[in-house]
Amino acid sequence: MKAVVYHRYGPPDVLSVQEVPKPSPKANELLIRVVAAEVAKGDCELRSFQFPIKWFVLPLRLVMGITRPRRTILGGYFAGEVVQVGDSVSRFSVGDRIFGSAGIKMGAYGEFLCVPDSATVERIPSNATYEQAAALPMGGLNAIHFLNMADIQPGTRVLINGAGGSIGCYGVQIAKSKGAIVTAVDSGIKEGLLRSLGADHFIDYQQTLFSQGDNQYDVIFDVVAHSDMKTNARVLSDTGIYLSANPSLNVMLQTRQINKSTSKRASFAFAKETLQDLIGIKNLFEQGAITAPIDCVYSLADMPDAHRRVESEQRVGLVVVRVSESD
Ligand SMILES: NC(=O)c1ccc[n+]([C@@H]2O[C@H](COP(=O)([O-])OP(=O)(O)OC[C@H]3O[C@@H](n4cnc5c(N)ncnc54)[C@H](OP(=O)(O)O)[C@@H]3O)[C@@H](O)[C@H]2O)c1
Repeated sequence: MKAVVYHRYGPPDVLSVQEVPKPSPKANELLIRVVAAEVAKGDCELRSFQFPIKWFVLPLRLVMGITRPRRTILGGYFAGEVVQVGDSVSRFSVGDRIFGSAGIKMGAYGEFLCVPDSATVERIPSNATYEQAAALPMGGLNAIHFLNMADIQPGTRVLINGAGGSIGCYGVQIAKSKGAIVTAVDSGIKEGLLRSLGADHFIDYQQTLFSQGDNQYDVIFDVVAHSDMKTNARVLSDTGIYLSANPSLNVMLQTRQINKSTSKRASFAFAKETLQDLIGIKNLFEQGAITAPIDCVYSLADMPDAHRRVESEQRVGLVVVRVSESD
């Protein structure tokens, strides 16, 4: 089968299309023909081994490969079709169109992928294309995980910092679907997209620091690495909650301080990516409460350009690669 592989950490040009052995499913696994996969920021970070947050670089390097990547096919989030099932699989059948997370083993940049039937995968929304379905899980699972920690009601004031990334785009829409008043913070080129996704207010962080404004927020959902949580929490209401999806060591310490010494609450976490949350995302998509805003769809051969597009942050929406053709 064809796959985009990499054998050393480095710039986008380390990615190339090669022939690799097709995987074979174990008794509890599904073999999926991947039709589309998201090209996520996390893929770029694993490819270059450059992370905005430094504290987990060493343990991650031990897991991913010290001198070169142990898992040579990236791609954590996909949509495709089940083409074979192991003997003990009952949840899915051949021909099911599914989407979800490939987990830590990744591999969605290849034409075929095996995942256990206990993985965070589900039948794709009835109204989604493969590209849209591939663009849903990463951002959707992370956004729903964090925003479920806040009690968002109609009228709740929610600020999303880094709203134009994969996670933020869904954060804006999920908060809006609950009736929140949403302020999106990102660079100016993303204003049109974010307003079209439902943001009531937009702040261009290159022009204005939201932490210096007069408005208060009940929820701050922060996807930006190196944010100064303590300064930003100045505009959090007295009973508000600060949710950090990209926590530096400093943010972890500041979380503790806010929880200990103020009436405000703060939390950081790594999203668990549960099946329940994936079904929640599917339902929101089918109800029309969220859409999958796609910036560009690339071919496998153009994967280096897809990575450059994601890294340049010029993307307006999510970047997807077409891995194989659907029937
Ligand atoms: N906690 C978890 O469980 C978890 C899970 C998955 C991923 N992650 C991490 O989350 C990040 C990926 O998320 P993503 O794809 O949504 O993000 P992303 O692609 O990094 O997007 C972040 C957005 O923030 C904007 N931005 C940059 N600096 C900013 C600032 N100072 N203020 C406001 N906005 C700013 C960027 O735009 P410009 O650069 O154009 O300004 C971009 O639109 C990765 O670093 C990944 O490792 C965390």
